[in-house]
Amino acid sequence: MIEVKKLTAEQAELELERLAAEIAGHDARYHGQDAPTVSDADYDALRQRNSAIEKRFPDLIRDDSPSFSVGSVVQSKFDKITHPVPMLSLDNAFSDEDVVDFVGRVKRFLKLSPDQLLALTAEPKIDGLSLALRYEQGELVSTATRGDGAVGENVTANARTIGDVPLQLSGDSVPDVVEVRGEVYLGKQDFLELNARMEAQGKPAYVNPRNTAAGSLRQLDSRITASRPLKFFAYAWGEVSAVPRNSQMEMVELFQQWGFQINPLMGRFDQVEQLIGRYRLIEEQRPHLDYDIDGVVYKVDDLALQQRLGFVSRSPRWAIAHKFPAETAITILKDIEIQVGRTGALSPVARLEPITVGGVVVSNATLHNEDYIAGIGSDGEPIREGRDLRIGDTVTVYRAGDVIPKILDVDLSKRPKDAQPYKLPDKCPACGSDAVRERNVNSGKLDSTRRCTGGFICPAQAVEGLKHFVSRNAFDIDGLGEKQAEAFYAWGLVMNPADIFSLKQRDARSLTRLENRDGFGKLSATNLFDAIDARREIDLHRFIFALGIRHVGEGNAKLLARHYHTIEAILTAMDDSSGFDGGAWEELVNIDGIGETAARAAVQFFADPNSRGVVDELLTHVTPKPAEQVSSESPVAGKTVVFTGSLEQMSRDEAKAMAERLGAKVAGSVSGKTDLVVAGPGAGSKLKKATDLGVQTLDEDGWFDLVGR
Ligand code: IVH
Repeated sequence: MIEVKKLTAEQAELELERLAAEIAGHDARYHGQDAPTVSDADYDALRQRNSAIEKRFPDLIRDDSPSFSVGSVVQSKFDKITHPVPMLSLDNAFSDEDVVDFVGRVKRFLKLSPDQLLALTAEPKIDGLSLALRYEQGELVSTATRGDGAVGENVTANARTIGDVPLQLSGDSVPDVVEVRGEVYLGKQDFLELNARMEAQGKPAYVNPRNTAAGSLRQLDSRITASRPLKFFAYAWGEVSAVPRNSQMEMVELFQQWGFQINPLMGRFDQVEQLIGRYRLIEEQRPHLDYDIDGVVYKVDDLALQQRLGFVSRSPRWAIAHKFPAETAITILKDIEIQVGRTGALSPVARLEPITVGGVVVSNATLHNEDYIAGIGSDGEPIREGRDLRIGDTVTVYRAGDVIPKILDVDLSKRPKDAQPYKLPDKCPACGSDAVRERNVNSGKLDSTRRCTGGFICPAQAVEGLKHFVSRNAFDIDGLGEKQAEAFYAWGLVMNPADIFSLKQRDARSLTRLENRDGFGKLSATNLFDAIDARREIDLHRFIFALGIRHVGEGNAKLLARHYHTIEAILTAMDDSSGFDGGAWEELVNIDGIGETAARAAVQFFADPNSRGVVDELLTHVTPKPAEQVSSESPVAGKTVVFTGSLEQMSRDEAKAMAERLGAKVAGSVSGKTDLVVAGPGAGSKLKKATDLGVQTLDEDGWFDLVGR
């Protein structure tokens, strides 16, 4: 790339045109589709180069210059809200020197001498998405996303489901009109748990907490938003009828009084060195925080000075974001290994020369699928456009959302001469069966994933299937976890789920008794057999879920169990649906919540002689308990119920099961769609929210009075 100071005017003109298009593309992917394809650092570098060229050639600044925009076009599925005060962006500092320059600039602008003290606040820059919450007479009236900075999306219904968003402000000095701004985010731990659930349901995992938070907030169905544990930090404001305090710090402290969460790492300092000291402290804390941050924001504390400083193009002159260096590292792609999952999906995994990225050793990275490796990926975040990956390549690795290692870029100049384009095997590495890309029946497009067609004969699928079968929400057998499942398979003791239930009988006749094997003794073997016996009766939905049918996660398993009640009825329905038409099929696809994809997968599973054989054999050992009849006459049928606080007469799980048995839906948080909140002692924000929303609330006794014991 030519240095900015060496560009000719013609080159600069072309370059500005290219940068405008490239940055607009990144903006659209980042804001509109929540699917960025470059790191924030690379994005910042593009914007910086654009500004530097514009500075040298002011005559060439384009009408569509990225300097005039802060985000992307507004998505159409929500109503629009015009921000009464634009939601702007922040200028960036990338080094301590940049921060010193910033403070110097501010002082010059204010005509302060360089050694005069100037108070600034420092606080983490949360990597979420900004939201404007409008309160009138203390009541939340509307909520908008940033959108393009001028016009955002109306996501009020969804924002109301966020526990950290007060529906009513309390405390002192609440203005008649105030728009509180801040960041919505998803905690790292919650993100990992959500992804584990998605994977358990056979759904694709999310890329990082930020995109997940954005996706969660943009749900058309606010019940989905409510099911995601989104959080909110308040740090700024837009329109206010009368600004009640004189400084940034006091305003934010007031937000806390009103009922908002504010960031505990925020501080106020009057020397640059102290600001940078706080930056270092926050940087040290970064890996231990439960939310992603990408820098530290400094703001001039005095609001009168902020007023004098004003704005330049897209950002305030009184604030700057001191960004953390992107956590990347350069290493060698030593090999690409293929893992075969429970459903036969071939997942390529990069084996890397081990390297530390942000303090954690990374030796593997996910590669998604073959299109991704070929550089034409549509899934995941494709590697820098158009570049393929080859074994031996020098690659830049980063940790997405600081969690999952990914490959960001390939250094083509370092590619070994003999490096060959990588081809995913067309035979399964575990069993040798054909591995194919299916064509999607609806779209006619090739599936991005290659799958082993070996089914039950594939050892990799078999072992993964066993692990799933014994997992917590399936058979959940004490003493039989993933490790034991693998060992039993390797020892030839358990080749399919049905074998688990004949283990004891076979063991009694065996020469190598389980109690004499590695990791077992007399007691643990006996305990295991007892634990297995304890599962010879099992809830129908657990039984269905355990089978590991594609697209049939826990939710769909429950729907099937509740609809058909018995395993016999399910089997009959599946058999009668095998032609994908007729009354039985219609009934199946019309079950509320079951899509055609899951219905088809279930029918195919039971029609397959191998899987059906295992099911039939299992049923000689195990009795699935008929699902209890869901009552449509109960007083809570069809209602949405939330349990909160500590329940004393029943466990949370019992309460949930009871409500579901009575035909209610159980939700995790209170929203406009909640019909009833059952609150035990210690109930907090959910109870408050219910009261604010006028939702009926009951204590535990009231619940039992309503539904009977
Ligand atoms: S102040 C007028 N403070 O960063 C400037 N922004 O790059 C108001 N952000 O759109 C923003 N944490 O989404 C501010 N502590 C913080 C922040 C923060 C994250 C985001 C915000 C903003 C973007 C600017």
